[in-house]
Parts: sequence; C-alpha cells; structure tokens
Amino acid sequence: METTEFRIELVRRVDESYPVIVGRGIESAVLDVASRPGLTERRAVLITDSTVGALVAAPLVRTFERGGRKLDVLTFPEGEQHKTRATKERIEDELIARDFGRDTLIIAAGGGVVTDLAGFVAATFTRGVPYISVSTTLLGAADAAVGGKTAVDTPAATNLIGAFHQPSAVVIDLDRWKTLSTAQIQDGMGETVKHACLADVSFFEELERAFVERHMSPEEFVRDDALAELTVRRNCEIKRDFVMSDVFEGNRRMGLNLGHTIGRALEAAMGYTMSHGACVAVGLNMQAQWGVQFGYVTREEQQRLEALLLAIGLPIALPAEVSVDAIMNAMVHDKKAKGGAIRFVFQRGIGDLMVFDGGSYARPIPVQDIRAFLTQSLA
Ligand SMILES: NC(=O)c1ccc[n+]([C@@H]2O[C@H](COP(=O)([O-])OP(=O)(O)OC[C@H]3O[C@@H](n4cnc5c(N)ncnc54)[C@H](O)[C@@H]3O)[C@@H](O)[C@H]2O)c1
Ligand SMILES: [Zn+2]
Repeated sequence: METTEFRIELVRRVDESYPVIVGRGIESAVLDVASRPGLTERRAVLITDSTVGALVAAPLVRTFERGGRKLDVLTFPEGEQHKTRATKERIEDELIARDFGRDTLIIAAGGGVVTDLAGFVAATFTRGVPYISVSTTLLGAADAAVGGKTAVDTPAATNLIGAFHQPSAVVIDLDRWKTLSTAQIQDGMGETVKHACLADVSFFEELERAFVERHMSPEEFVRDDALAELTVRRNCEIKRDFVMSDVFEGNRRMGLNLGHTIGRALEAAMGYTMSHGACVAVGLNMQAQWGVQFGYVTREEQQRLEALLLAIGLPIALPAEVSVDAIMNAMVHDKKAKGGAIRFVFQRGIGDLMVFDGGSYARPIPVQDIRAFLTQSLA
C-alpha cells in the first residue's frame, strides 16, 4: 500500500487567565474560589506538607465544613528532598484509594515545594484536574505561584520531570508570612529585587524607601499591608509579563534569569547550604558590577542595588570559602553553557534589561572572560 497522510487540524486558543487573591486571614477566600463555576461541584482535597499542614489544614477544613463542603487532607513530609516522583506516586495512590476521580479539585497549600508537586499531581491525575495554589511563602508568592511550571526533582537534576499546568486561582494570605523565619523572608526578597531590577524602577524605589531610608526589618515588612501587597502584585505581574511573552520558554523569558547564572552556580558550589535567594542576590550585584564595566549600569546604580540588598540583609559578594574553580565547574555544567561561552542577562540601569544583537536578551561571554571576572571579584 502507498503511504497516505492526512492532517488532524488542531489549533488551540485557550484562555488560561486566573485571579490572584491577596489578603490576611483569608481561608474563606479559598472556599470562595473553590465555589466558583467549574469548581464548586468538585470533590476538594488539600495537599500540603507537614509544616504548613499543621498551620492551615484545620482552619481550612472548618471553613469548608461551614460552607457545607468536605475537604480531604493529604500531607507529605516537608522539604525539598520530598519533592520527588515517589512522593507524587504516594499521593496519587492515596487519591485513588480514597476514590478521587475526574471530578477532583486540588488545593495546594504551601511553599514552592508543595505548589510545584501538587500542581504536577493536578496536571496528570486522570489526565489533569484543576488546582488552586495557596502560596504560603514569600518565595512562593514572588516566583513559584505564577508561571504554570509544575515539577518534581530527580537525582540527576531539580525540576526535571514536570508539566505546564496553570492554576485556577492563586490565593496569598499575608498572615502566613508571619511564621516565616528572617532567612526565609530574605530568600523571597532575592527574587523580588530581581524583578524590580529587570522591570520596575518605581518598585525598586519603594523598596529603597522602606529598607534603605526607613531601615525596615524583614519582620516589619511582612506586617506592612501596603508594601507586602505591592510586593505580591508587582512580582506576579512582572513574572506574568515575561512568561506571557513565551509560555514554553524562549528568549524573553530568559530575562527572569537575571542574576541566576552566577547565582545558581554559587548555590551548587556551596553544596546548597546557601539559600537560592541569597545566591541570586550575589549574582544580581555581580552582574551589575560587571555591567558597570560594560557600560550597561552606572556605578551609582550598582551602589544603590548593593545598598538595597545589604539593607534587606542579603549578601552582595562571593563568600571567601568558595573558589573560582568550583563556580566555573558548576556553571559550565549548567544547561545554558554552549560552545565555550555562557549567556548572561544584564540589567540596563535599574528597571530594564539589555537587549543584544538580533534582539537577544542574553549576551554570550567566553568562559575565560568569566573566569577573569570571577578572579577579580574574589581578589
Ligand atoms: N514553579 C516555579 O516557577 C518555581 C519558581 C521558583 C521556585 N520554585 C520551587 O519552589 C521551591 C522553593 O520554594 P519555598 O522556599 O517556598 O520552599 P518550601 O515549600 O520547601 O518552603 C520552605 C520551608 O518553609 C516551610 N513553610 C512554608 N510555608 C510556611 C509558613 N507560612 N510558615 C512557616 N513555614 C513555612 C515549608 O514547610 C518548608 O519547610 C523549590 O522547590 C523551587 O524549585 C518553583
Ligand atoms: Zn530563582
């Protein structure tokens, strides 16, 4: 028989918009979104970790009961080491054992580990069910809650297995931030300053006024309604703007890597003993220092960034115990290393990004030049 070919026409145009609801003490907001059309007739299950479960499960279950709705609870042990396929499988088996099916609504309450893992469960359970992301960390609100990336880690790499699956809604209860440690707040501020640097000078100035001029502490920050709300909103909007430009990765989304090429390499070189946000802070300040040399940023702008990071309590330079070799090894293993050069994103002044030849948001820098810059920085 001769080979034939025909075409299945399938052009999809989907509206995956969703609300982000921010407030304090807003268990009722979770019930409210779970009661919206398309969700209200579903069987709801809360997926959370041991730490967050102890804080939110009982009040959420009570709120749902008062609303005439049952909320099942599934908890897994807290920590990045549990963001695995094995945990996902255990949760799926438990859902099946409890007779959950295609009418499931997942409520994912926790930091990035929970929203990534429970979001991935939602992406594949019976080929996909809706989920509401209840983000309880500043890092979650600043980065993990928006973008639709869900995943689990493998021994080979973090976030290696996953799916794009947008939440039906994101709920951020600012009262949850009160139980975060200072280091956890600072961790989330690393990504926050990154977003301000790459897209919003007036947000940067708000942060400067609070932390540099008024010497606000991280603990005061989480209690400041206006600034905390602004932080959630600008983080989510800026991330949305970059993600929207190409949902399935690509050039503009690369802007979100500002400070991350050095930051991630530092994280690996330190054996993951330094928080992601702290490593990103170092990466941000270093790319700004490099940017001064290239003429992308003025010395004054770089010093403003440095002053803001210091006022928040974030590091600004490579720790003395880390070697140039260790960072280079981690960087060249990074997936973005190509042909003896590594691509770096640079901010342009404060609140904008450099765009290079051909409209690229990243500039390739030869490995030997990177080594020279790191050596000079550590001197
Ligand atoms: N999907 C994305 O686009 C994206 C973006 C950035 C980060 N992430 C992922 O997010 C994860 C890191 O996020 P994270 O720092 O929120 O991690 P996390 O979920 O592990 O939270 C950190 C710790 O804080 C605890 N915790 C959470 N909320 C709390 C609260 N309100 N009070 C007290 N303790 C609380 C958790 O139990 C955990 O022990 C990583 O796995 C990372 O890969 C994903
Ligand atoms: Zn990051």
